[in-house]
Amino acid sequence: MKTIIYTLILLSLNTHAVCTQEFQRAFFDTNSKRLSSVVDDLALKGVGKKIVVKGPFKLSGEIKINTAKNAYLPILTSVILSDKPVHLYDLPKISDVNKLKIILSELGVTITEKGNVTTFDSSTLKTNMAVCDMVTKMRASILFLGPLIARYGAGKVALPGGCPIGARPIDLHLEGLKALGVNFEEGDDFVQGIGKFNSLVGSDISLYFPSVGATENIMSAAILAKGETIIRNAAKEPEIDDLMDFLNAMGAKISWIGDGVMKIEGVSELKEVHYRAIGDRIEAGTYVLMGLMSRSHVKISGFNPEHLGDALNVLKMMGANMKVGPDYIEVFPSQLRPVDVTTLPHPGFPTDMQAQLMALLTTVEGQSKITETLFENRFMHAEYFNKLGADITVEGNKATINGKENFVPNKVVATDLRAAAALIMMASRIEGVTEIHDVKHLFRGYSDILEKLEEQGVDIKMINE
Ligand code: UD1
Repeated sequence: MKTIIYTLILLSLNTHAVCTQEFQRAFFDTNSKRLSSVVDDLALKGVGKKIVVKGPFKLSGEIKINTAKNAYLPILTSVILSDKPVHLYDLPKISDVNKLKIILSELGVTITEKGNVTTFDSSTLKTNMAVCDMVTKMRASILFLGPLIARYGAGKVALPGGCPIGARPIDLHLEGLKALGVNFEEGDDFVQGIGKFNSLVGSDISLYFPSVGATENIMSAAILAKGETIIRNAAKEPEIDDLMDFLNAMGAKISWIGDGVMKIEGVSELKEVHYRAIGDRIEAGTYVLMGLMSRSHVKISGFNPEHLGDALNVLKMMGANMKVGPDYIEVFPSQLRPVDVTTLPHPGFPTDMQAQLMALLTTVEGQSKITETLFENRFMHAEYFNKLGADITVEGNKATINGKENFVPNKVVATDLRAAAALIMMASRIEGVTEIHDVKHLFRGYSDILEKLEEQGVDIKMINE
C-alpha cells in the first residue's frame, strides 16, 4: 500500500515518469539535437582500452591543473534546484562530468556550450526520477536526491555504482534528509522520498561521521527548506566550501558558525549564477607525487596548495624539496624518508591520494606504513604494484611498504580511478613498457591526462584491449 501511494505521488509529479527503453529512445530521438552537443565519446573514454607507457620518464616545465571533479559533481547535481540559468566555467573534460550531463539531459535540463562556459537551464526539467541506466553507473548520482526532493517535494534515484572501493552506504544521506521531513521508501536498486506536505522543514542534524556526500545532499536540500538547518560534524573538505560558495552565489544563505558546524537559512527563490569551481587538489597532488617519484623539477599550478591539508605536511616530513606558492607547488629532485600515514577526513591525509602516496613510498628507502580508514577495500592496487616489483604487504586496513630501487615492467590492472594514476606513476621508474588494463577509471577524474603527459614527452598511448 505504502509503495502504491509513493508511486502515485511520484507519477503525479512527473510527466516522464517511466524510464523504460522506449521512453529513453523517444526522449533521445526528440532531443537528439540537444543531446548531440552533450553526449560525446568522453563519457565512455577508456572503456575496453589499455594504456601502454614506456619508462622511465621525468616531468619538467609546468603542468596546469583543471577545475575539481569533486567540486563540480555536487554543483552539477544542484543545478536542478533553480529554474534560472546556471553558467559553469571550465568544466573538466572527464567522463564523470559528461555522465552527469547525460543524466541532466535525461531529466529535461537544456544544456548549451559556448567556449569555456556551459549553461544549464532547468526551467525545462521534466521529471523528478533519476532512474536511467547512466544513474547507476556513478556513485555521485545519489547527490540528485536532495535537489530533486527540494525542487519537487519528492524524488527517486536509482542506486549508484562508482569505484569498487567498498560498500559505501548512504544511511547518513537518508538520515539527514529524514530530519528535514522526508519519508523514504528503499528498494533493492532505488531510493525514493517525499517531503511532508511536499515541503522540507529546517532541522538540527548531527552526522556521526563527516560524510562528504551526505553533507552535500543535506546542504543542497536544506537551502529551499522552511526555516533554519544546522549540520553538526559536517564534512570540511575544500569542495564543501566550494559548493557553499556556489549555492550562496545562487541565492542560498549558508555559513560556517563553528568548527564543522554549518548553518543554512532556507530561502524561497534562487537566481541566475555564473561560477568557476576551485582547482583540483587531488589532480594537483597526483602530479606533485609523480614529480617527486620521477625525481623531476616541475611546477604544478592552478590550485590552492592549502587545500592539500595534511598531505603537504606529510610531504614536508618526508623531506620533499618543494617551493609552495599561492597557487602552485614547484617540486625539485628530493632524497625522501619513509613515513607512517593514516587517511582521514579533511584536513587529514586524503584517501584519494593514498594509492599515489603508496606508489611513491615503494621507491623510498626504508619501511613506510599506510593505514586506510575511509574505505575498507582501497588497497587493491598493492597487488599490482607488487607485480611491478614493489614490496608491499597488506593486513586488513594496514599496508607496510619496503622501499626499493628496481622495478620490472608488467601487465597490470587499474582497479579504481586513483590506482590508475598511481600505476602511471610506477611506470615513471620502470625501464620498459608497463601495460595498464581497464583504464576507463582514469578518465573519470584526470582531464586531458594523456595529452598532458605527451606534452611532457612521455611515451604513453591508449590502445584497444
Ligand atoms: C567523496 C569523494 C571521494 C572521496 C570521499 C572521501 C566526491 C564525488 N567523492 O566521496 O572521492 O574518496 O569523499 O574523501 O566528492 N559513509 C557512511 N554512510 C553514508 C555515507 C558515507 O557510512 O551515508 C562512509 C563511507 O562508507 C566511507 C566514509 O563514510 O567509509 C566516507 O564517505 P563519504 O565522505 O560520504 O565519501 P563520498 O561522498 O562517497
